[in-house]
Amino acid sequence: MRKQIVAGNWKMNNDIDASKSLVKNIIKKLKKKSLKNTRVIVAPTFVNLQKVASKAKKTKVEVAAQNMHQAKSGAFTGEVSAEMLKSVGVKIVILGHSERREYFGETDAILAEKVNAALENKLEVIFCFGEVLEDRKSDNHFKVVESQIKNGLFHLEASAWKNIVLAYEPVWAIGTGETASPEQAQEMHAFIRKIVTDKYNSDVAESVSILYGGSVKPANAKEIFSKEDVDGGLIGGAALNADDFVALVNSF
Ligand code: 13P
Repeated sequence: MRKQIVAGNWKMNNDIDASKSLVKNIIKKLKKKSLKNTRVIVAPTFVNLQKVASKAKKTKVEVAAQNMHQAKSGAFTGEVSAEMLKSVGVKIVILGHSERREYFGETDAILAEKVNAALENKLEVIFCFGEVLEDRKSDNHFKVVESQIKNGLFHLEASAWKNIVLAYEPVWAIGTGETASPEQAQEMHAFIRKIVTDKYNSDVAESVSILYGGSVKPANAKEIFSKEDVDGGLIGGAALNADDFVALVNSF
């Protein structure tokens, strides 16, 4: 049975005190809850990863980075490698977020390299993709999503997919208050599972968790998460508040 996942992408929010207190509150609120098939992940900024990872150690909360560089080490001012992430207790990395693609010029080719570097270092990858509004209006959303997944991930062997989580984040729904309808999310997630089946096999496709991201809140999560092919969410704004975030975990 595939895992259900609620992952909080804190983006460029929360200083060290706010980060520590947010993770502490989430851990406390989850303490009495039996999570069985559900994973809870938080992704603070680089500078707060070590502290948050050490607070989350031996709890129900896992810690992810929001990005990493593809090279092992060297003259890449301002960048952070997979090994560095591992050395501070991080086991998961988000790659391909639309904000990285849009504002930092991350192309499909760069992302494929990042995916390889992460997997070589035994990091699990939450791989993001999604169409912009224009693509959807012109009915190109399936094509765009297929090409992002194909270029970023389809070079991998089937066995590598056990360390991949997919996150469909339509750009028009990120931070806008506008969500894809549960039907739109389900339609895209089913399409994604189909292209993974066609490329690999149904075992790979049925095992991979596919998260939806874009203005998920406690008020709409239940309906979205109840869709057959939606295995949870990658959450921005609502992940910055412990009550809201834990309410999302409780929406399964
Ligand atoms: P919002 O939940 O704020 O729309 O952000 C979604 C997102 O980008 C998560 O990575």
